Amino acid sequence: MPVSGIIRVTDGKHKPSCMISAKLRSRAPKVDSGRLTWGNISVEPENGMALYYNGKLLCRDYPAPRRPRTSLPPEEVAQLMSEGHLPAEFLPGADQWAVEVVKELAPDAHIYGLGDKTGFLDKRHYAYENWNTDDPAPQCDNFQRLYKSINFFMVYSSAGCCGILADNTFRTRFDFGKEQDDYYFWSHDGGQLDYYLIPGKEPKEVLAKYLTLTGKNKLQQKWVYGFHQSRWSYYTPREVLETVDTMRENRLPLDGVFLDIDYMQNFRVFTFNRDRFPDPKGLMKALGERNVKVTCSNDPGVKIDPGYYVYDEGVAGEHFAKNPDGSVYEGAVWPGPAAFPDFTRRETRSWWGEKLRFLTDAGVRGVWNDMNEPANFTGPIPDDVRFAAGSHKEVHNIYGHFMGQATYEGLLAADGRRPFILTRACCAGSQRYCAAWTGDNHSIWAHLQLSLTQMMNQGLSGLYMTGADVGGFGSDTTPELLVRWCQLGAISPFFRIHYAKGTRNQEVFSFDKATMDACRVSLDLRYHLLPYIYDLAHADMPILRPLVLEFPEDEHVWTLTDQCMLGPSLMAAPVMTPGVTARAVYLPKGVWYDYYTGRRYTGGKYILAEAPLERIPLFARAGAVIPVSQGKPQSVEEIRSEVLEVFPGKGSHVHYYDDGETLAYETGLLRSLKVSVSGRTVQQTVTRDGYPGPDSLEVIWKA
Ligand code: GLC
Repeated sequence: MPVSGIIRVTDGKHKPSCMISAKLRSRAPKVDSGRLTWGNISVEPENGMALYYNGKLLCRDYPAPRRPRTSLPPEEVAQLMSEGHLPAEFLPGADQWAVEVVKELAPDAHIYGLGDKTGFLDKRHYAYENWNTDDPAPQCDNFQRLYKSINFFMVYSSAGCCGILADNTFRTRFDFGKEQDDYYFWSHDGGQLDYYLIPGKEPKEVLAKYLTLTGKNKLQQKWVYGFHQSRWSYYTPREVLETVDTMRENRLPLDGVFLDIDYMQNFRVFTFNRDRFPDPKGLMKALGERNVKVTCSNDPGVKIDPGYYVYDEGVAGEHFAKNPDGSVYEGAVWPGPAAFPDFTRRETRSWWGEKLRFLTDAGVRGVWNDMNEPANFTGPIPDDVRFAAGSHKEVHNIYGHFMGQATYEGLLAADGRRPFILTRACCAGSQRYCAAWTGDNHSIWAHLQLSLTQMMNQGLSGLYMTGADVGGFGSDTTPELLVRWCQLGAISPFFRIHYAKGTRNQEVFSFDKATMDACRVSLDLRYHLLPYIYDLAHADMPILRPLVLEFPEDEHVWTLTDQCMLGPSLMAAPVMTPGVTARAVYLPKGVWYDYYTGRRYTGGKYILAEAPLERIPLFARAGAVIPVSQGKPQSVEEIRSEVLEVFPGKGSHVHYYDDGETLAYETGLLRSLKVSVSGRTVQQTVTRDGYPGPDSLEVIWKA
């Protein structure tokens, strides 16, 4: 019997100790000359904490010191700095860290995870840093840090898969075989050595175990899986309503609009600019009548402004981060001088959570936590600024997470529905509270490519509800880029167009008819697939996933970066280069069907797929069951009838019904319909009967 186990390695007194997860501890290990064995997992604490899975070595400390690249002479450092060329690792003192772990790197190992980092699927040969950072420059492969700090990655090789969660909140760097090819390492800027080794045969198993440590993804309200339109900013109710009405007139489905910071009174959080938005409730009501819900931006920075109620309450309640002398720390964000709530403090989280009633009372349905790295316009927040849980140096990377918790708890109390929170900054475990987006990307093809690998790696880091600003945030998009990006958006867990001030309008109706029509195909596809996507969200595995998660034995997909799976059954090969109307698609072994035409393929090879401008190549696995909506719903509420699209073969799928809004499904208000396919026979069984719904659905054979 395989044993599920997680090994915790800590260094309370600078000597690694091995602590075994409760499940393993309940069984006495077999001890054999320094090797402790539980089923298929063995550990040798005195041999570099060697970890074996099914007898194969998965992970072990590197037995020799690291071999850093030689540093440059000081005069050359100065010379390079003068033109801004200096790589960070050459800065004086850059290689001094409080804690460091170095592990052997097998020649055939690939590395995944680490959240939203740039680059491609496999992180081997790259180095990164976890220090939540707001950097709106075009984010290229060599970028080391971005908004999120998820200290989790997986090392996958022919020996199996080893997940590593480095449980330390300080600034952390990771080198995945960039410095030298035969080791990887991570280093913390403070704190203690404390990490978990999560062994498994393949990434899926490791990911499931990782969630047992850090928490499950929260199922969102069903409308959240629809399409959202956003810009920085819609300035007036009229602009918002005109946008929604133009979408509706053009048969462009829509479920959500976002109000960015300009709805506030001079960027004071928990205010409405009453000149522009005199009747927020009336606006939300008018949008509700159109089946559209509103999500409002909310930043942590509170304007320092005596007399402004949030600031006054914050001072009176000791809610703000402090300088070492006890005074309120003053940074600056959109409102100018700003104080930062200390979300690591329970009282402050409750206070903030209560404040959210200001938004929910107006009918706002989602909260968009932005700038919560926290970003600060006056430069880095000093290390010694004080929070309840420690210094800024210690809590910076978890600040966004705790803002997420405050928002989650506040929204749940105020609204009662599944809280929808979109966050920019987060850390390991934030999936318990938040959905996330990839921050300020640009309208460039490189960022379309990047967004796919960011979403796949976030999925592999346990954060499933994720998406990028479709069309690109900064810079001006082009019609073709927008069309192709909408195609990836249609299969992204979170699908939102958002764009920056001063860039060209990016609502799909702002373009010529051919572009709008091509984008509409993707919006319709999203709503067609929505019942399937909602099922995937229920199943708690990444909605969008790299092929390695489904085909771990196929070495070819270990580094495949430009294709993805939507759940276990559909594979997409998005076009992410201009001027392309056909592309190479790798089909893993087995039988595949073109999703649109039903054409049958035998996998284990590349094919050339047609990719006309308005269509994303999609393939279904043999035996795939895809619950879809019928007709052309213009919002999630309009999804009335569903059918099962089925491809012959062997497979199964669980389709869910719940109220789409509350957490009642967790306590049994849930219906599940198990659909099994064998050849050309379909069997449907109600496996949970806690919510009304059909006992079976009409089957449409797609091939
Ligand atoms: C940040 C966000 C962006 C938002 C802007 C104004 O740059 O990342 O999405 O539009 O702030 O609030």
